[in-house]
Amino acid sequence: MVEQPANAAADSASNHRPVVRLVKVHKRFGELVVLNGVNLELHRGETTVIIGESGSGKSVLLNHIVRLLKPDSGEVYFHDQRIDDLPERELTVLRPRFGFLFQLSALFDSLSVAQNVAFPIVEHTKKGRKEVEEIVRRKLGMVGLDGLQDKWPAQLSGGQKKRVALARAIAFDPEIVLYDEPTTGLDPPRADEINELILKLKRELGVTSVVVTHDMASVRKVADRIVMLHNGEFIFDGTSKSIARSDDARVRCFVEGRCAAEVLQTLHEKGKS
Ligand SMILES: Nc1ncnc2c1ncn2[C@@H]1O[C@H](COP(=O)(O)OP(=O)(O)O)[C@@H](O)[C@H]1O
Ligand SMILES: [Mg+2]
Repeated sequence: MVEQPANAAADSASNHRPVVRLVKVHKRFGELVVLNGVNLELHRGETTVIIGESGSGKSVLLNHIVRLLKPDSGEVYFHDQRIDDLPERELTVLRPRFGFLFQLSALFDSLSVAQNVAFPIVEHTKKGRKEVEEIVRRKLGMVGLDGLQDKWPAQLSGGQKKRVALARAIAFDPEIVLYDEPTTGLDPPRADEINELILKLKRELGVTSVVVTHDMASVRKVADRIVMLHNGEFIFDGTSKSIARSDDARVRCFVEGRCAAEVLQTLHEKGKS
């Protein structure tokens, strides 16, 4: 074994300690068991992609990571701090360390782009107008939209709305960014702009990322690691390379894009009814 100086060993240990840890997390809604004793560790700077059929609990899982939901049993840790049982008052200190891009971008239609991005900053800090404007400019610059400050959400394309929502999600330079289906509904070039942004935030800000997606192009592009949720458990945990070789039929369905097609068909039928 190669000897390391003590401080290097300590650094290396802290780098390997998970940023987030879920231990035997159970969650049910009435009779419906959504998470059935899930264990998951997220590592610093790594992008973990969560796949699974519609309704398999991916959003519920994300909500546990940021404590928007509490498990029925099990534990959730952020670094070494247990967060599933933290009182709301202590959570407000932690929340800025998480950036959450919700499935529906959820911009406020009656606020301008700049006001949307500024919203969490104005809400949670006492920063002056000039400083807020400067943060907004930097965050919009990060997602390639500096200059659109005075536009209204209704004037933006779907891809631009996602990017504004992302600028807002990173207002506090979060350590972790969670993306819930960030490319759904976007055409391939716009979807790829979002993939590029996920890579950029990882590269330039060193964020730990969790991406829920049905989009295999996105999976292949951004994933360091892929986990697949099925019937409340992970049935796959590995890399893009290893998922391509999986012979589990439930996994293959995703890899070959057939599941995505089925999901779209279901959504289409729901839309018609
Ligand atoms: N707050 C809730 N109350 C009751 N059922 C819920 C709630 N949130 C999610 N569910 C149910 O849990 C299951 C998993 O939901 P979700 O995590 O949103 O799935 P997806 O994998 O598509 O993101 C679904 O059947 C959903 O209807
Ligand atoms: Mg979902």
